[in-house]
Amino acid sequence: MASRGGFAKRTVDDLKVEGRRVLVRVDFNVPLRQGRVADDTRLRAHLWTIETLLDRRARVILASHLGRPRGRVVDEFRLDPVAQRLADLLGVEVLKTDDCLGPEPAQALSRLDQDQVLLLENLRFHPGEEQNDPEFARALAALADCYVNDAFGAAHRAHASVVAITRYLPSAAGPLMATELRALGRLLDEVERPFVAVLGGAKVSDKVGVLRSLVRRVDRLILGGGMANTFLAAEGFALSASLVEPDAFDAAREVAELARAAGTELIVPVDLVVAESAEPPGPRRTVGPADVPPGWRALDVGPRTLELIGRALADARTVFWNGPVGRFEVRPFDAGTVAVARMLARLQGRAFTVVGGGDSVAALQQAGLAGAVSHVSTGGGAALEFLEGRELPGVACLPDRDAGAEGVWAGGRT
Ligand code: 3PG
Repeated sequence: MASRGGFAKRTVDDLKVEGRRVLVRVDFNVPLRQGRVADDTRLRAHLWTIETLLDRRARVILASHLGRPRGRVVDEFRLDPVAQRLADLLGVEVLKTDDCLGPEPAQALSRLDQDQVLLLENLRFHPGEEQNDPEFARALAALADCYVNDAFGAAHRAHASVVAITRYLPSAAGPLMATELRALGRLLDEVERPFVAVLGGAKVSDKVGVLRSLVRRVDRLILGGGMANTFLAAEGFALSASLVEPDAFDAAREVAELARAAGTELIVPVDLVVAESAEPPGPRRTVGPADVPPGWRALDVGPRTLELIGRALADARTVFWNGPVGRFEVRPFDAGTVAVARMLARLQGRAFTVVGGGDSVAALQQAGLAGAVSHVSTGGGAALEFLEGRELPGVACLPDRDAGAEGVWAGGRT
């Protein structure tokens, strides 16, 4: 298996791709707005992989999911806007099919020129994808000679194009997959200390596993966002109309207890920016957690909390950040999250900094600081499951580099 820090899986460098049809599983699950790609970070992350394969004269077939259409054709989840944006970014023609199976992809492939790539329609329009259906995987595999999984963001999903397909084609990890596993693997190995994690986002219940894991590994755990509200409420603060999860009080207390036992410093907000409503943003105040006015809600961390966060990060040598510390989508409640992004950027050259999760990555970009951290992960859920210490099904099924020459694979083509 892939070790955590090192990388023991077969990679695309170990595959013969020259002149062959290579099916590349990518994660083009990107936000769309008015029929256009609203954030192309995930497309850009795969460019190197695609360009390298084209340079090696492979015939490139790209396959992705988009959204959660649940096994039906849903027009709003078609990949046409992705094909357009990808063509702009790559500077080559992207042929796009209206189905990922059937006669159309095979025909398109037979016409594919060396300087074109083929993008199959959303895999999740077929129920077989999420069911990890071997028949669906076999049909997909029939389009190609070998398979490259570059979709780290989907590696926690045991789906047909991620797992079952590796039974039918010689398989390898793509460059993005390898980069992600190496970078995140460093956080699970011996890290340089102090190691600080900043976790935000709405819910404790989404992140209990990673909280339990990280609280034992880091020196300081900083909490913000709705998640921190739940920790404060579990300690007895009445946060009025703020988002809290009473069902997660026990989990919050457990994490606080684990922190005490491990000697990890747990940093929760000491002041909050509160308002009656986020939309439209009305009057706001900064108050302590005990002083949230009736009917008001916490929407960001306050200046004293940011000072604490700044101090906790100042001498960090390793940092992982996932999730905004406030209602980042609505100005001015993005201020705390943008301030955290700046603090991470200031560590450039002094610390190994990893940021994962859509909103924290968006905050970095909004502040123009994406280039100032060591690694920006394309994986949200996948990164968190990896840091929980769980084996990702999309990684586990890839052959080890020492498993033998390419062509040795579990099932063989039948
Ligand atoms: C993601 O956006 O985290 C990945 O693309 C996985 O998407 P999913 O949660 O719909 O499986």
